[in-house]
Amino acid sequence: MNTVAPPTGPELLRVENLVKEFPGVVALGGVSFDLHAGEVHVLLGENGAGKSTLIKCLAGVYQPDGGTIVVDGERVHISSAAHAEQLGIATIHQEFNIVPQLSVAENVLLGRPPRRFGMVDRRRMHTLARAALDRVGLDVDLRRPVSTLGVARQQLVEIAKALSLDARVLILDEPTAALTDAEVDRLLELMAELRDKGVGMVFISHHLEEIQRIGDRVTVLRDGQSVGTVPATTGTDELVRMMVGRSIEAQYPRQQPPVGEELLRVENLTSKGHFEDVSLSVRAGEVVGLAGLVGAGRTEVLRAIFGADAYDSGTVTVRGRTVPGHDVHAAIGAGLGLVPEDRKAQGLVLGASVEENLGLAILRSATRAGLVDRARLRDQARTSVKNLRIRTPSTRATVKNLSGGNQQKVVMGKWLAADPAVLLLDEPTRGVDVGAKVEIYQLVNELTASGRGVLLVSSELPEVLGMCDRILVMAQGRLVGELTREEATQDAVMALAVKEVESSRAH
Ligand SMILES: Nc1ncnc2c1ncn2[C@@H]1O[C@H](COP(=O)(O)OP(=O)(O)OP(=O)(O)O)[C@@H](O)[C@H]1O
Ligand SMILES: [Mg+2]
Repeated sequence: MNTVAPPTGPELLRVENLVKEFPGVVALGGVSFDLHAGEVHVLLGENGAGKSTLIKCLAGVYQPDGGTIVVDGERVHISSAAHAEQLGIATIHQEFNIVPQLSVAENVLLGRPPRRFGMVDRRRMHTLARAALDRVGLDVDLRRPVSTLGVARQQLVEIAKALSLDARVLILDEPTAALTDAEVDRLLELMAELRDKGVGMVFISHHLEEIQRIGDRVTVLRDGQSVGTVPATTGTDELVRMMVGRSIEAQYPRQQPPVGEELLRVENLTSKGHFEDVSLSVRAGEVVGLAGLVGAGRTEVLRAIFGADAYDSGTVTVRGRTVPGHDVHAAIGAGLGLVPEDRKAQGLVLGASVEENLGLAILRSATRAGLVDRARLRDQARTSVKNLRIRTPSTRATVKNLSGGNQQKVVMGKWLAADPAVLLLDEPTRGVDVGAKVEIYQLVNELTASGRGVLLVSSELPEVLGMCDRILVMAQGRLVGELTREEATQDAVMALAVKEVESSRAH
């Protein structure tokens, strides 16, 4: 990626002293920043700092309670999402805005399908959608319901949708959280092209290296206030200090305890069309990583072990006892827990409170003779909120109103409360800020130090390399290799992950 010139283009957007309050929360307490043509302006801040709230005010989703928004030199009140689009502002939201039941093509052109003689022109819709998807490199059947795509590909649909608006201001709220390295590269290249064309972009990401690669300026938010705007070349330590008010010692603080008895054994697990002949084990004290490219079958394996999906053959054993297939209750009873990759669809009851969500995994053990021990659930919830530093006005707040990263912490807290023997983690730090990530890793250390085991799937290779004691690599539904902590490097893992793919292409 080439280095960036400072923004010389005209000012597209300016925000002054923006204020937005929710019951019990001042989400924005006076935020100011400006965006120029041909600039990538990064918003950086901890989970709950107010980033998404700010962009929702710019996207017409929320009406601010105070302050001003100036677009092209004129003060505006952005009354709706459609109004924002008319002003030339397109937004990729952190929580997807896709309609699961509609097809890929319908989602890309949501709200503005091409018409002919008053009817939706399906052929033209497919041509336009295909062109938009080509730009993000997504090759899927346009007629497929979006719900059948994984999170990464749903994210690409969301990006294609915003790009196809040809806006002058493009806002991207954590667009890379669900993407793999190659997809991130492609998106950043696209952003660089748009910048050359004079588009101004507001970019939110918890990955500091991306910020340095694509950003021009960075505005740091803390507790709903803008604490400063600095060049994106500012050092990581300094950015972290501005953001969390302290420096972070070790990004991956893994402490490996002595390894004990075998807790989980998976033998010859096969689910036709998804994965084949997967055998692995996790011992007490171990963090075992499952690495590979998106589509390698890692999520599917975790879900099958946990009983969330059926499998065709093979066995899952926890502490010597066979766990029946496709039976989540039995899996939980045997001592398994799963933090799923898609928190919105599988991890949370969005309309329920923080307390209720945190209690979901222990509901059975907190129930005696049909009565739920509410006091125990409340104590548990308070402990989780404190340990994970979940930012919420109270344990009774609705989970839907928490920031993305804090929702992720609730999913994590729910399973920590259940105290499983083996915790299956699927992208556990997606959308989590740099400080909170370290806290989650500390919890993983505590779990393993107390004799539990962890099986970790993550698309962030540094996280896998930094936190796992042993790494299994999957490609095309099969385990293709195992690396010790000492052997594992980014190159070694990638070499295994792509080798299989290339050799199968050659055939
Ligand atoms: N609709 C809402 N109702 C009540 N509170 C809300 C609502 N939306 C946001 N909040 C609160 O406002 C604060 C800021 O949230 P916001 O989503 O803007 O954070 P963020 O910086 O985007 O965090 P993250 O990195 O986790 O995505 C949080 O405390 C959040 O709980
Ligand atoms: Mg957010």
